[in-house]
Amino acid sequence: MTRRDLAVIVVAAGRGERLKASAPKAFVEINGRTILEHSLSPLSALAELSQVVIAAPSSHLAEATEIANAVLNTDATLDVVVGGDTRQQSIANALAVVADGVEIVLVHDAARAFASTALFERVAEAVRSTNSSVIPALEIADTIKRVSGKDVLETVDRSSLRSAQTPQGFVAADLKRAYANASDDFTDDAALMQSQGKKVAFVAGEAEAAKITTPEDLVGVLSRLNAAGRTGIGVDVHRFSADATKKLFLGTIEWPGVPGLEGHSDGDAVSHAVVDALLSAAGLGDIGSNFGVDRPEFAGANGSVFLTETVRMVRAAGFEIVNASVQIIGNRPKVSTKRTEAEAALTKIIGAPVTLGATTTDGLGFLGNDEGVAAVASVLIIKPEDRLAS
Ligand code: CTP
Ligand code: MG
Repeated sequence: MTRRDLAVIVVAAGRGERLKASAPKAFVEINGRTILEHSLSPLSALAELSQVVIAAPSSHLAEATEIANAVLNTDATLDVVVGGDTRQQSIANALAVVADGVEIVLVHDAARAFASTALFERVAEAVRSTNSSVIPALEIADTIKRVSGKDVLETVDRSSLRSAQTPQGFVAADLKRAYANASDDFTDDAALMQSQGKKVAFVAGEAEAAKITTPEDLVGVLSRLNAAGRTGIGVDVHRFSADATKKLFLGTIEWPGVPGLEGHSDGDAVSHAVVDALLSAAGLGDIGSNFGVDRPEFAGANGSVFLTETVRMVRAAGFEIVNASVQIIGNRPKVSTKRTEAEAALTKIIGAPVTLGATTTDGLGFLGNDEGVAAVASVLIIKPEDRLAS
């Protein structure tokens, strides 16, 4: 069995002064999702994750909790703490609630919103194998100069320089001890450890983990993100059941007062349409080729079973899900009654915003005759390596 002894601290309490946005940086949106949301999305896939701690501004505690609950699809516990005046103080506040059973702590800047799951895993594994502190670091591409006033003093040999990123990984007890003994303020935890004579190693960082600091960084991220999307479409139709006791499930939730739908599973056309859209976007076939009627384990299954497995497959193929949009076609149910609930349930499962709309067919055809329900879904997914290539 996998150990569950990893805590991730996500620091999101900064004001983002250099970004000059109207909200604190972690709550600024990129493609309809906050920076905090983007930064949390790689965490759900960490098998060893036992706790997530977010440090947020006091004005945004509820919002941070809501975002984390919607995006994290994991059994790990969640704590949201108030940040401090400095990054280091924010981490100290977060460390205070890290559970006793946690062996390894990764500290991550929410502002490094697009760090991959693989980077978190690489750092955690290196901490495990060396039993010491590990940071991700990148080589420097530019020629580096030491300056004074307007004068260039010298060219610095860059071969021995690296730029440090997060997540930075530590043996939990070592990090707690270093914070307890801290006498100065540092811009990263590796510097704090080294101020106390502790050894720090590095593993390869990634361009994706670059920090969003200025408005120009945001523009760069947006253009890379949006250049590399892949869309997918899915359609599903199920007829209303003649069995009046059958319950209606759409978007994984129950809709009382409307008959259930026929199907090998529970007939959840909304979930199935999203599954097909995700599979098609990722080039992984369709619902029939993956979850055919010959698989008895899916008989009567709730839409969440198919969606959860599909999300796992799509992520395993290297994709992140950006969003999904679904439209129900039919006379019933009245979607407005449970739209928010269905959107929240689906958003939680796929780890990205899902929006739900509805329309009728003006009385035309089998949907106009109230024989069943159809759903059409479209999704956008991205592959980090496509982003880098663009
Ligand atoms: N951070 C924090 N608490 C602070 C300061 C920073 O949790 N008191 C977090 C930020 O939210 C960010 C990370 O530390 O995720 C890295 O800091 P930085 O990029 O400097 O973010 P800000 O401090 O928000 O930005 P700025 O310095 O431009 O105000
Ligand atoms: Mg700062």
